[in-house]
Amino acid sequence: MTVWNLGSINLDHVYRVPHLPAPGETLAAEALTSGLGGKGANQSIAAARAGARVAHIGRIGADGGPAGAALAEAGVDVTHVTRSAQATGHAIILVDAAGENSIVIHPGANRDQQTAAIDAALSGAAPGDTLLLQNETDAQVAAAGIARAAGLRVVYSAAPFDADAARAVMPHVDLLALNTVEATALAAALGTAAGALPVAELLITRGSDGAWYRGPNGTVAVPGVPVTPVDTTGAGDTFLGWFAGRRDVGDDVETALREAAAAAALQVTRPGAAAAIPTRAAVHRFVGTK
Ligand code: RIB
Repeated sequence: MTVWNLGSINLDHVYRVPHLPAPGETLAAEALTSGLGGKGANQSIAAARAGARVAHIGRIGADGGPAGAALAEAGVDVTHVTRSAQATGHAIILVDAAGENSIVIHPGANRDQQTAAIDAALSGAAPGDTLLLQNETDAQVAAAGIARAAGLRVVYSAAPFDADAARAVMPHVDLLALNTVEATALAAALGTAAGALPVAELLITRGSDGAWYRGPNGTVAVPGVPVTPVDTTGAGDTFLGWFAGRRDVGDDVETALREAAAAAALQVTRPGAAAAIPTRAAVHRFVGTK
């Protein structure tokens, strides 16, 4: 099986700050690093590290060569990553002393997806494959419709959260993934309880408190794995990509959730987004120490 991912590709510029600035405050950063990020790219790498075959569908600008190379080096098929006249998306990320972050993204090429190219890419998909989507690209609804018609399982992360975007894609979604803040906001927008959001499978990640899943066979909750975070950027992407990857290779829900929780916990002990996503061997060693 293959995990396809219509996903954002960003260049992340990460500024270490003593605290997240208040409105009107000017702060000097203690350090600046740059690397691959984007919720889509992070999820692709997590799914690949989890052991799945992953094909990324996305757009980069003329400046995006290193980002595409980093994805490929992580074992992701980049055949369907194409060049846009727009600049590669980027993110300005502030990380404070406790590892919490604040992120501003400039979408650039991520919002220049071409439906014909998505259609061409997914013509190589097989029924039972998975399509991952997040809310950092355009063409989400078109891609979800194409995927559903081809018999793929559609997994949507409602991040960055936008109630209208989530509402538009939900009719095509098999698994909806949200954090607790997003789940509360979407439930309020739809006038329902968070646990009753109308999708076949619902995954709510709770940061250090683990995750809760509802599917056709009932609910599963897994605890978080206690760690001291260095940088929480990309933790949710790691969880979801890992979970989707393990489900694609045949794990049951609880096994996939537990391993995803461990991968995300280990990821936050390292700085950066994509660069901090661990290998599966490292996750197994980490679990052995707990
Ligand atoms: O979820 C973390 C990601 O959000 C970062 O890598 C950044 O690029 C933004 O997309």
